[in-house]
Amino acid sequence: MATTGNTAVQRKILVLGATSGIAEATCRIWATQGASLFLVARNADKLAAVSADLRARGAAFVDTAVADLDDTDSHPALLAHAVNSLGGLDVAYLAHGILGDQTRAEQEFNTAAHILHTNFMAPVSLVTWLANYFVQRRAGVIAVLSSVAGDRGRKSNYVYGSSKAGLSAFLDGLRNRIDREGVTVLTIKPGPTKTAMTSAMKGSEKFADVNAVAKAIVTAIDKRVDTLYVPFQWQPIMFVIRHIPERVFKKLNL
Ligand SMILES: NC(=O)c1ccc[n+]([C@@H]2O[C@H](COP(=O)([O-])OP(=O)(O)OC[C@H]3O[C@@H](n4cnc5c(N)ncnc54)[C@H](OP(=O)(O)O)[C@@H]3O)[C@@H](O)[C@H]2O)c1
Repeated sequence: MATTGNTAVQRKILVLGATSGIAEATCRIWATQGASLFLVARNADKLAAVSADLRARGAAFVDTAVADLDDTDSHPALLAHAVNSLGGLDVAYLAHGILGDQTRAEQEFNTAAHILHTNFMAPVSLVTWLANYFVQRRAGVIAVLSSVAGDRGRKSNYVYGSSKAGLSAFLDGLRNRIDREGVTVLTIKPGPTKTAMTSAMKGSEKFADVNAVAKAIVTAIDKRVDTLYVPFQWQPIMFVIRHIPERVFKKLNL
């Protein structure tokens, strides 16, 4: 493990959902720090472009695997291959996810189930394997992109929000179990951020800059923070939203 100033820089990093806008911006920072990266994404062309860019930016090592992360049966072999390729692992970063179609999910269980599977079941499968790997070594960081949307269900996106609420609660419990074993579990809760996921949303030009979000994530991983709201103002905003009485909240159009 290398160090810059007082901050430890993790060297061997696995990125699941590496073509995500937030993940790509985060990897660009790690590449300039000379990290070794194992990138997993389902779109081979996008993955090849991202990995070439990260090599050019200074990554010490980049290897990739194409995988649909909905296929939980493939996770153990995929993760073992990544660890083998990197020759160990310091940080696992989970970034894949879908917003899904809320209106359709209100009518069709299969649409809701797909959102819950991709955003909750698949991360639970990945994190279960990774937690056991890191606990055996009594070291490591598991950093997962959840969302402020998981802090309170809202009519506009409660299926996505509930997938993230489940994920955040799972990570809380996992942290409670394995922090004492030397493993950091970081729950990342971004507010609306400018990426492909949000580009069609009203007001998206005012959303957070993805590079600023990525910088805060890298710092939180280095400092082994438990929960990161990013940008930081989402922490007090969500505190207020969580405490609005239900009799008032149910009448709001959020
Ligand atoms: N942007 C925001 O405002 C925001 C706010 C809070 C939380 N988040 C969370 O942050 C994470 C990253 O989001 P983003 O904003 O960077 O969105 P994004 O650019 O749309 O990235 C989402 C990524 O997930 C990948 N993915 C989806 N399903 C997959 C699957 N089954 N297997 C493999 N990869 C899959 C997508 O791959 P393809 O390119 O192949 O589709 C894409 O690379 C997500 O978990 C999201 O929920 C985002």
